[in-house]
Amino acid sequence: AATRHEAESAPATCDGLIESNHAGFSGSGFCNANNAAGAAAQFTVTAPAAGAATVNIRYANGGTSSRPADVLVNGAVAHAGSAFDPTGAWTSWVTKTLTVSLNAGDNTIRLNPTTAGGLPNLDYLEVDAPTSGKTTVW
Ligand code: GCU
Ligand code: CA
Repeated sequence: AATRHEAESAPATCDGLIESNHAGFSGSGFCNANNAAGAAAQFTVTAPAAGAATVNIRYANGGTSSRPADVLVNGAVAHAGSAFDPTGAWTSWVTKTLTVSLNAGDNTIRLNPTTAGGLPNLDYLEVDAPTSGKTTVW
């Protein structure tokens, strides 16, 4: 089963404010990061064994432009400039799926926006092993 990591719950961090003014989020709120390049959100996920994992990032982007972000795993860029495209409204939450390689134990996953628009609003990050080709039982 996937493990959900809410953006508003430590050890997650948000370079901005935890807010709850746009309905549809999970938990008690979401991360509204500052609208600036480098205003990041970070999650800590624990893997039982090293290997590839599927990461689902739930976000809303009510703006009119994509908000690209580098996805760093343990400080290294795993996906450069990953697109977080507009969702139509700040209350329209969607899930973006990426595959990352995790170490056994704790790992950081950091979303670092590369443009002045900053990040979309972030609800949570879920992590699970891939459904095909998996070598790890979670
Ligand atoms: C609006 C919206 C925020 C959002 C911001 C943005 O202010 O209410 O939730 O974070 O736009 O453009 O990032
Ligand atoms: Ca914002």
